[in-house]
Parts: sequence; structure tokens; C-alpha cells
Amino acid sequence: MKQKDQLDLTKSLLEQAKNSAFSYLENTNDLPVFPGTDALALLDDLSKPFHTESIDPSVTLSELSQIGDKTIVNHGGSRYFGFVNGGVLPIGIAARWIADTWDQNAALEVMSPLAAKLEEVCESWLVDLFNLPAKTKMGLVGGTSVATLCGIAAARHYLLSKLGWDINADGLMNSPRLRIIMGDQTHGTVTKMVKLLGFGSNSIEIVPSDKQGRMLVNKIPTLDDHCIVILQAGNVCTGSYDDFSSICELANNAQAWVHIDGAFGLWALASEKFTNLTKGIQLADSWSADSHKTLNTPYDCGAIFCKHPTSLVEALHQQGSYISAGDNRDSMSFTPDMSRRARGIDLWACLHHLGKKGIQQLVDRLHFGAIFMKEGLSSIGFHIENDVHFNQVIVRAESDAKTKHILHDVQKNGVVWCGSAMWKGHFVIRISICSWQTNDSDLTIALKEFERAFNS
Ligand SMILES: Cc1ncc(COP(=O)(O)O)c(C=O)c1O
Repeated sequence: MKQKDQLDLTKSLLEQAKNSAFSYLENTNDLPVFPGTDALALLDDLSKPFHTESIDPSVTLSELSQIGDKTIVNHGGSRYFGFVNGGVLPIGIAARWIADTWDQNAALEVMSPLAAKLEEVCESWLVDLFNLPAKTKMGLVGGTSVATLCGIAAARHYLLSKLGWDINADGLMNSPRLRIIMGDQTHGTVTKMVKLLGFGSNSIEIVPSDKQGRMLVNKIPTLDDHCIVILQAGNVCTGSYDDFSSICELANNAQAWVHIDGAFGLWALASEKFTNLTKGIQLADSWSADSHKTLNTPYDCGAIFCKHPTSLVEALHQQGSYISAGDNRDSMSFTPDMSRRARGIDLWACLHHLGKKGIQQLVDRLHFGAIFMKEGLSSIGFHIENDVHFNQVIVRAESDAKTKHILHDVQKNGVVWCGSAMWKGHFVIRISICSWQTNDSDLTIALKEFERAFNS
């Protein structure tokens, strides 16, 4: 194909994609938040044997749009309160479009000086926003799960080298035994990553929690320099924050490592409103957070922050005769993977657009939405099962059966979507306010929907 033809083809496909995206955006608030049964049946149309001949790409794109338009989960709208997924800022979509067109690989500076620079700028802006120690380095990964893996790998390297053991040379077998200290409400991804790193359940010491899911400080076992303590900024059900000041003081005195899982909750550091919750966060050694959650960047964008850069890099480093180290930042030094998309491009665009004030307002608005829901649901007759610390509300009716019935009804109706959990022995509805788009009128519609289901 001639170059002009290739350009025309790319432009016409992008035009087609743009029209399809615009049509979604124009209709987003009229679409069901979750696809109905008939729509989901269309997914079966995709299950065809792999064909032999090539297909015109515009036909491929139309087929994708036609099925996707009817079957997507409408995270991009304003009444999706499931999990802690967040929406996507317009600047994030636009920057991601350009970034994908540029097709940058963010592994090495020599592959993309732009990606390396933007990642470095994001690192310094976020370290400033979160008021983390100045020497903190950041790696961009797919999400908090992998960020936590990086934090614990750095911890393992740091503690073992202080104990005279070279993990990279000698591995974990026969090494001094490290202890993992975590709460009974720790997110499942943390346990998974701890196990992936070679610590079996017998290395984990579980600390009981209070009614909000915060670790009970007086139940923490005696810590020492073999301990990795894992805390939470934002419990996935209640949104509660551990007592960082007290626990970090214990850990720091014992020369233990503290990692904080702040998947959605680390962003509360952007607002003074949450100072009581976030006090002492900076005393930890590593932190994980997701931009695709609270900041509403496009998927996927998680970050590991670590104040011991040497340990992070040593834990994740890789060599190869063809790897040409850059003069500045080779981003793959801070992550397990090599080739990856340049997440720093859309992250930078969102940070650049919002500024510190915009992020503070976003975070405050999410909190306001959660309070609004809590008060409205309480007056309908729901039991509110948590203090609204940040953006999470968990509620139930008088019995698990009724709560399940209400949730099923709301999910089926497609006006609002939220998920569920078991909390301290009860089935609860989990409402997570995490989209920049959710406004008062969405919250009012959501409350009407809950009231209808509650009384049905
Ligand atoms: C507290 C917490 N930790 C970890 C995770 C996992 O994050 P990710 O899905 O980005 O890997 C989540 C996801 O919701 C979370 O809420």
C-alpha cells in the first residue's frame, strides 16, 4: 500500500472511531448503566471460529461498535457506583487517543524520551501533592495489585540486605524468615502478591480490626526488623484509614518496613478536609495508588511510590546487552515489566489540567456525594453500616434476603449500578462514589431508585 493510502486509511478509521465515541458520549446518560439480558445475548455473536481471510478494517470497527454500544458497562456515565472503578476525565480520553496514536513504549528513555520525561514530571508532582519524602521514586504499573507487588519486593530486598542476605543471588530459600503483618480486612490483592513473592500463609500474622475495618493497634504483635507491615488508606468496603501515626511509629522504632495500600484512598491527601485520616501516612516506606480510580484517568494506571529507590530498583532490575541505559530515567527500572504503554502521557495531562486545586475539589466532591447518599438512604430506612470516611457507603435492609432483593432489583433496572459485599456478618450493598461526573441530580435519581426498590 502506498504511504498516502495508508494515511487515508488511518484517518478514516480514526474518523469512524471518533463518530462512534461521540455517539456513545451523546447518549451515555440514557444508556442502561449495566447491559440487560437481551443486550448481553449479543455477545454470543462474537463467538465465531477464527476466519482465514482479512476483513476490511472499517467493517471490523463497525462490528465492534455495534456490539460494544449495547454491551458495555457504562462506567463513563455518572451513575455507576460499582467497585471503585471511577470514570474518565475528557482530557484523559483525549490524551490517551493521542498517546495511542504515537504508540510510545515507555520501557527505556531511548524508546521514548517524551514518555520518560512525563513520567518524571508526574513523579515529582505526585510526591509534592502527597507530601511524600523528597527522595521517593514512582513506577507506573497496571494497578494497585502490581504496585503492591513492587512495594513488597522492595521491602523484601531492603530488610534481607540489612540482615546480610542477598535475595537476588541466594533467593528466599534458607533466608532469614520475614514476617508479614496485616489486618484481617486487608485487600485480597495484597495477600495474593505476598504469596506470589514466596511468603506462605504461615509467614502472615493477621491483626484483628475494629467495626470500620481499621487494624486494632493494641493487637499488633511485637514488631522487629524482620517485619513488613501492610496498612490501608481506604478500606474497600468502609473507606476507613488505619492509624498511620501510631502504627508507623511502632514500625519505625522496630526498623520494620511499612507499605500502605492506598488504591483509591491515597488521593485524600489532596484535601485538607481529610487530614485526620491521613495523618502519619508519610512515615511509611512505600505506598500504592491508582490514578484510574479516584483521579479518573483512563485505565489502567497504578503507581508504586517508594522512599528507598535503591531497594526498589535492585528488586526489579533487569539486564541485557541490548539495553541502552538512558542519561535520565529508564522507567522500567521501577516496575516488573519492560514494554508497556506510556501511562505517563494521560496521567500528566490529567494532572496538568486539574492542578492541585482541581484534584482537591474532585476528592471533596466524591466525599460530599457519599455523605448525600448516606443521609438519603438512612431516611429511606436503610441501616448505614459504616462511618463515611471518604467515598464509600455500605448499607443494608433489615435482613440479608431483603438487601439481596433490593440490590438485584436496582441492578436489573439499569438506572444505577452498585455491588455487594459481606461486612461483619451481613450482606451489604456497596456504594462507591468515584466518578467526576456524578452530580446532585444523579444522586437524587439514585436515591429514588433505592426508595422504589426498598418499598417494592
Ligand atoms: C483497597 C484496594 N486495594 C487494592 C485494589 C486492587 O487494585 P487494582 O484493581 O488496581 O489492582 C483495590 C481495588 O479496588 C482496592 O480497593
